[in-house]
Amino acid sequence: MVGSGFIFIWRALVLMHMLPGILAWGKEGHYATCKIAEGLLTEDAAAAVKVLLPEYAEGDFASVCSWPDEIKHNYHWRWSGPLHYVDTPDFRCNYEFCRDCHDSHGHKDRCVTAAIYNYSMQLTTYRESVSEWKYNLTEALLFLSHFIGDVHQPLHVGFVGDEGGNTIVIRWFRRKTNLHHIWDNMIIESAMKTFYNSDLATMIQAIQRNITNDWSTDISSWENCASDRKVCPDPYASESIKLACKYAYRNATPGSTLTAEVVRNLLPDYVDGNLSALCTWPDQIRHWYKYRWTSSLHFIDTPDDACNFDYSRDCLNDMCVAGAIRNFTSQLLHYREGSSDRRYNMTEALLFLSHFMGDIHQPLHVGFTSDLGGNTIELRWFKHKSNLHHVWDREIILTAAKELYGNNMELFQEDIQKNFTDGIWSDDIASWGECDDLFSCPNKYAAEGIGLACKWGYKGVTPGATLSDKYFISRFPVVAKRIAQGGVRLSMILNRVFGNHNQKIPAPT
Ligand SMILES: *[C@@H]1O[C@H](CO)[C@@H](O)[C@H](O)[C@H]1NC(C)=O
Ligand SMILES: *[C@@H]1O[C@H](CO)[C@@H](O)[C@H](O)[C@H]1NC(C)=O
Ligand SMILES: *[C@@H]1O[C@H](CO)[C@@H](O)[C@H](O)[C@H]1NC(C)=O
Ligand SMILES: *[C@@H]1O[C@H](CO)[C@@H](O)[C@H](O)[C@H]1NC(C)=O
Ligand SMILES: *[C@@H]1O[C@H](CO)[C@@H](O)[C@H](O)[C@H]1NC(C)=O
Ligand SMILES: *[C@@H]1O[C@H](CO)[C@@H](O)[C@H](O)[C@H]1NC(C)=O
Ligand SMILES: *[C@@H]1O[C@H](CO)[C@@H](O)[C@H](O)[C@H]1NC(C)=O
Repeated sequence: MVGSGFIFIWRALVLMHMLPGILAWGKEGHYATCKIAEGLLTEDAAAAVKVLLPEYAEGDFASVCSWPDEIKHNYHWRWSGPLHYVDTPDFRCNYEFCRDCHDSHGHKDRCVTAAIYNYSMQLTTYRESVSEWKYNLTEALLFLSHFIGDVHQPLHVGFVGDEGGNTIVIRWFRRKTNLHHIWDNMIIESAMKTFYNSDLATMIQAIQRNITNDWSTDISSWENCASDRKVCPDPYASESIKLACKYAYRNATPGSTLTAEVVRNLLPDYVDGNLSALCTWPDQIRHWYKYRWTSSLHFIDTPDDACNFDYSRDCLNDMCVAGAIRNFTSQLLHYREGSSDRRYNMTEALLFLSHFMGDIHQPLHVGFTSDLGGNTIELRWFKHKSNLHHVWDREIILTAAKELYGNNMELFQEDIQKNFTDGIWSDDIASWGECDDLFSCPNKYAAEGIGLACKWGYKGVTPGATLSDKYFISRFPVVAKRIAQGGVRLSMILNRVFGNHNQKIPAPT
């Protein structure tokens, strides 16, 4: 029971370590976009751009297209930060202006598409005489040009839960980085190196050649703006999130997404931001006098043979694993709101939540009352003595590691990840994360747990039995899937709890 192998393997799915996200199409991307636009301007437009460019640009439009990135961390300009992107609901792969265009506090029209409407509208006043300009049209031009670039970067129209890929830690060749940054910068940098002799001008020429040749028949459809508006950023945003789903998020492992910085802050220095290293802490301390109250938080006892879960019946005074997940989720929510109660230790809350999310996904942690979740069902696992609870905590995993992965836990982990990013579970993963109400999620997990315990755990097992190959082979897929679900769901909860976005989180009941 102690040192659950179940926890051991799935905690390793929870990786972090990330670079600070850089929040926009890199300099090269913006430069290229503006350079290409410059070559296509009418005479009138080119003349206006020339008038509006700041002097220091020395007539080079493309060179100032990253200006909005350069100023956005500046106190005076901080309001412009949310105008660089738009967040869409997790896993939906679509975009709607009314639903999605707001900042993390829910203020309407604070997003990239609204900003494009705003600044193109301002620029239409250019024809009026200079003295009547209400807006600074130099700024309007630079913002508009920049945001048109941003809205075409697929992950600037990404999922809210991972902040457009910013919290998805991933490797680009040897370097550890995040998915957003890969699409902002790394792909372009690598392409320049590999194909264009590290020369941006050569790359831009190659794109321009394609505009006049290969893509020439498509151009009119690119320019097509169905409505009678001057600009139509909404279809651009829709294209981007579709591309993000099809190309960017594919193969990027949601199991490794985390709001790494907050987690790092909460962990003791010696683990260096590695949550996995401490996921077994609650097992280690549960027998200490001071923490004895946590013992009952690791499991749920349900009535024998009922095979269902009822919170009010099975989780008295909230003292069960489902209640504990609610409890520590709600403590962590206060941390984000800066209203954390000094009675609570946020580091402990994080460790408890992470551990209990593993426990609740171990089917026999939601088991029958009289056999203590299989603990009193003595039996043999192949040749040695064990009990049913322990079989599900450790034996199945250890046997799998030995028989299927040459005792290499990393291979096991990779296999699990592969199966949810691009394998047997990749179609289901969106539904795993589904959970409208953060506080009712644990009920769903517990109900699944006792269902699986009945269908796979207890089934065909009598005290004194010997379990071997047949049981192992049929049960291993259940264990692997529960591990994957636990990892994906923990990251979903932490992202919602710590993420800087406007996810409606209902009060605990
Ligand atoms: C429109 O532009 C003005 C001037 O820069 C700015 O104050 C305002 O916040 C902008 N609104 C949006 C929705 O971009
Ligand atoms: C317009 O904005 C630019 C960039 O912020 C600034 O340099 C310039 O002084 C502004 N012009 C006016 C007339 O305020
Ligand atoms: C230009 O088009 C060709 C053929 O579609 C493609 O292989 C090439 O990568 C394109 N180049 C650029 C820079 O997009
Ligand atoms: C985190 O800790 C776990 C368990 O101690 C270890 O296996 C893993 O290698 C560590 N990860 C990193 C990135 O240090
Ligand atoms: C919630 O956590 C606090 C300590 O952080 C503890 O005193 C309380 O008993 C917990 N309740 C449940 C239901 O876990
Ligand atoms: C929070 O809990 C951790 C783990 O028990 C402990 O090391 C740390 O000192 C506690 N922090 C505070 C402020 O009590
Ligand atoms: C991954 O999926 C394959 C089938 O495609 C299966 O054989 C394998 O056992 C699965 N691995 C895990 C860890 O679930």
